[in-house]
Amino acid sequence: RTPTPADPWRPVAHLTAEKNWLNDPNGLIFHDGTYHAFYQYNPRANSWGNMSWGHSTSTDLVHWEQQPLAMEASREEEIFSGCMVMDTNNASGLGSAENPPMVALYTSAYGKNGALPQGAQAQSVAYSLDGGTTWQKYQGNPVLNLAPTNNNFRDPKVFWYEPGKYWVMTTVVADAQVVKLFKSTDLLHWDYLSDFSGAGAQGGLWEVPELVQMNVEGSTAKKWVMLLSINPGGIAGGSGMQYFVGGFDGTRFTAENAAAPDAPLSDSQWLDHGADYYAANSISGAPGDKPVLLGWMGNWDYAQNVPTTPWRGSMAIPRELTLVRGEHRYELRSAIATAARSALEDHGGEVKNKNLTAGSSVQDLGADFTGRSQLIELAMDLTSSPEAGVILRESSDGKSGLRISYSKETRTVKVDRSQAGTTNFSEKFSPYHQVSLPSNGSDGKVHLTILLDSSSVEVFAEDGVAVISDTFFPDWEATGSSVFSMDGETEFTVSSRRV
Ligand code: FRU
Repeated sequence: RTPTPADPWRPVAHLTAEKNWLNDPNGLIFHDGTYHAFYQYNPRANSWGNMSWGHSTSTDLVHWEQQPLAMEASREEEIFSGCMVMDTNNASGLGSAENPPMVALYTSAYGKNGALPQGAQAQSVAYSLDGGTTWQKYQGNPVLNLAPTNNNFRDPKVFWYEPGKYWVMTTVVADAQVVKLFKSTDLLHWDYLSDFSGAGAQGGLWEVPELVQMNVEGSTAKKWVMLLSINPGGIAGGSGMQYFVGGFDGTRFTAENAAAPDAPLSDSQWLDHGADYYAANSISGAPGDKPVLLGWMGNWDYAQNVPTTPWRGSMAIPRELTLVRGEHRYELRSAIATAARSALEDHGGEVKNKNLTAGSSVQDLGADFTGRSQLIELAMDLTSSPEAGVILRESSDGKSGLRISYSKETRTVKVDRSQAGTTNFSEKFSPYHQVSLPSNGSDGKVHLTILLDSSSVEVFAEDGVAVISDTFFPDWEATGSSVFSMDGETEFTVSSRRV
């Protein structure tokens, strides 16, 4: 799919549905050489409702092919977020030894005449015996309910816990800001383990939790990381994602570097500082030893109003996480997933390079750097300027464009989308987002990897210490790129390829 004047904001390097609404990624799994992404999808309209599981597949995490609808909402039951695992030993008995089942755990959101009263949410199982194409619901659903019933009990994510030889599920009671952990040996019967609560941002629903074990970079140590979405109350307003680093003993997760309840939350606990990164989960069975996350590039504050048609909602570029021991705490670093990065490079255009020094001016980067979608590496040495940056999707009169800037004194990276096209679809479409970096690169410069697509930008700063993911809706004609340096000189090194 390519953007056209009639569909100007269609991404080229991000998952979207051909038509209609999507939100959270669900049931992410790498199986037989194929990445499967299922997702919250409305088969009937371009707005949230009739929640079903859509399905797309990819071999490179950049080019996605939409598959037939996996599971469809009924009057009795909508199918909310969840996850998927390969039940290799057929412990569930839903397949056979020769043909083990793919098992999805999802939230049943009950309607009229469902298995539980209308409004209740509980966890259910569905399975596929044909590699994810067709799905059957388990007869004994729901498999996990909070007695008597709960209207905010959702978002199961399951992983295999090898030391205990059981599956562990994280879920939330969203409006109580509690993560609940359960265990099972057959994916069908679940026993309560523990709660995680009382840490991090509390001012909104807790949604889509996940616990992942990670290697600590450069050591043999391992840590557990809890990923958690919050809405509202995110760092950039509305929806956002926080994380906690700690230990898991098979029963309980203990956060080591959660801020004290009354302490201001540190920047480093947010997975993204933009407005559009939510509900990310890791891809089960993805190659490599680092979690590969797929997130929804949306924000509940305004996602329902964004001006795209006939589709609404896209996924972020898959990203790979690394855990490092920082000065005061463990921190995550994010990068474009290796497979996705290779695909962007292999399918992208020729690399264009430019070195230039600008002093108190805006300088057009010229025809080589125009485009609606680009992968850009930018290094800036602010030799005498306090603030410098790049303008993308700039109109020919220079009046509109997306500004990505860096302020030397506060080491702040800022993405300003307020003059970058259509913004009037929602009062909650926040104008800019920023993050302060712990330090510059070892060469004294600031380095940004920027993935620009038809209606989004993802800025990875300084080896992924911080990321800003933002959607924006630029004018079709605006394809220029410039650099600017304010009140002094900046040396720029730019390399870019069209994607
Ligand atoms: C998060 C969420 C989940 C829920 C799903 C419904 O964005 O609210 O908690 O399962 O979306 O579509």
